[in-house]
Amino acid sequence: MSQLEHEQVVIRTGRRSGLPVIVAVHSTALGPAAGGCRIWRYAAWQDGLADALRLSSAMTAKFAAAGLACGGGKTVVALPEGFELTAERRREALLDVADVVESLGGLYATGPDVGTSPQDMAVIGERTEYVFCKPAELGGSADSSPATADGAVAALRAVGAVLRGTTTLAGLRVAVVGLGNVGGRVATTLAAQGAELVLSDIDPERRALAGELGAVWAEPGSALTAEVDVVVPAALGGVLTEELVPRLRCRAVAGPANNQLAGPEVADLLAARGIVWVPDYIVSAGGVIHAIAVELDKQSEDEALERVLGIEGTVADLLAAARTQGGTPVAAAEELVRARLGAARSRGVVGEPRRHDRRAAVAQP
Ligand code: PHE
Repeated sequence: MSQLEHEQVVIRTGRRSGLPVIVAVHSTALGPAAGGCRIWRYAAWQDGLADALRLSSAMTAKFAAAGLACGGGKTVVALPEGFELTAERRREALLDVADVVESLGGLYATGPDVGTSPQDMAVIGERTEYVFCKPAELGGSADSSPATADGAVAALRAVGAVLRGTTTLAGLRVAVVGLGNVGGRVATTLAAQGAELVLSDIDPERRALAGELGAVWAEPGSALTAEVDVVVPAALGGVLTEELVPRLRCRAVAGPANNQLAGPEVADLLAARGIVWVPDYIVSAGGVIHAIAVELDKQSEDEALERVLGIEGTVADLLAAARTQGGTPVAAAEELVRARLGAARSRGVVGEPRRHDRRAAVAQP
């Protein structure tokens, strides 16, 4: 039997919504846990649990690699197929999430994720202080997606540098798959810097953005296999499958979607084809870096942005380490994460669960 890696997992039927609310605290070795609240459809609540387990573990890696003193956690509210999430039921679900978060007493703080927004964080904030990214008027750092996008673009500069020897984005051929809050801003920024774009989304209405940016529009399937320098997954996870890898025509894959690999073995398949893959937890760290810089470290927007843009250096270092050690960026990233978690252990701070300090967690208005 495999071991449970997680410190704690709470599964509760929300008393208002009747929905399965799952909070997974993977690790508090580096500090109290944080991670977004995903409200999404699943065939079975167990699939939501599996998602929460994977995503919370990726959050531990994300914080460790970004050098932040936080641990990994995640919340999933698993909607059954066909469930209609009315505004009222949404509010009930959010208050149910808040109760579970509050019951953890600061071990974990939630934030926005796929299917939730700063407005939703305001609702959670009615019942618990342990929530990031409330709207600015409520003292939060608001939408984290611009920072996630800026961090992803910073990562693309470093990727472009190993492919073409320059960090300038002009002329870099990029396919962005997923044009939501993050992907849309990545595409807009890349276009402004002169990149050549293929854009794609499951929602055909997003095609208008391709028109505005002078980009080629493609269906998600063909965008993933487009002949470009870099494919940027910017929607849901699991897009990199065993079947897809042989059909890829890009030189690198680097994007902000969480959990891109359908399975860990896909990283080896990418490496065998000589396709550079930068782990998603490195590329997507901008949102949490911004939220933590502003809300916990009380830094200004400019200081936070500077830290977010530091992702370029992190990616450059990982790519350089992979090259000199003859390994992959994945192996180099895992090594970095292991080293940071190991250092926390040797400082003797592990054992006692770490909690968010309520006073520190409340952002200055
Ligand atoms: N969705 C964010 C992520 O996956 C989660 C998050 C953002 C958590 C901001 C806290 C603050 O990185």
